[in-house]
Amino acid sequence: MDAITCIKERMSIRAFTDKPVSREILSEIIDTAKWSPSYKNSQPWEVIVLSGKKKEGLSNLLLNLLEQGEEAKPDLAAPTSWPDREQAQIDHLYAMRKEATGMDLNDPKIITAAKKANFKFYRAPHAIYLFQDDSLSSWSLFDLGLFAQSLMLAAHAKGLGTVPQAFATDYAPQVKEFLNIPTSKRLVLGISIGWPDLESPANQLRTERMPTEEIITWME
Ligand SMILES: Cc1cc2nc3c(=O)[nH]c(=O)nc-3n(C[C@H](O)[C@H](O)[C@H](O)COP(=O)(O)O)c2cc1C
Repeated sequence: MDAITCIKERMSIRAFTDKPVSREILSEIIDTAKWSPSYKNSQPWEVIVLSGKKKEGLSNLLLNLLEQGEEAKPDLAAPTSWPDREQAQIDHLYAMRKEATGMDLNDPKIITAAKKANFKFYRAPHAIYLFQDDSLSSWSLFDLGLFAQSLMLAAHAKGLGTVPQAFATDYAPQVKEFLNIPTSKRLVLGISIGWPDLESPANQLRTERMPTEEIITWME
């Protein structure tokens, strides 16, 4: 698969088959992602891959915390407001979702249901956590974003599906304790990964993008 097809075809996958992914393939994907660029080649990425009982255990922990009404404490705070330009894109996505599934993502009950699905890692056989030292600058967060995209593209090139999940970091202190990640680290992103169930209704919605003219200003 060429790079342009891979970038344009990748989409968030939210339903997976039960078939596990071999450690060899998972390791190959991370081995590919590590070739991402980073500020001064500092490579500020640390990765945990969860499968089997450990993944189930973490899912149960997250679901229980939600059930108990525990306050979410992600290391990267969820945005509370957006500039008009970006808010318009979010509104468009939510309208598309509502039309496709009948679910309104502004409804607190739907948000809770969405969180539960996230905490189950959309039933993917594996979950990946990306983290880095908390003292690193915003540039390192940027680098970890590049790493995450490389990882998801490498996965797509292998026929795998992924979804990046900020929600999976909601209970960062508890997740770090469960995974033995020192408190000096910042938990940046969860990613569910597995073989995509392409027939599932959950995987039918293709998101859109702004017209290219709206994001470029040509200057000569
Ligand atoms: C940093 C980040 C956090 C995200 N968090 C979540 C999440 O918690 N749950 C989820 O289902 N999708 C999450 N997404 C996926 C986005 O909703 C998705 O990438 C976006 O709608 C574009 O769709 P596409 O990935 O199919 O192209 C996240 C994406 C990014 C980049």
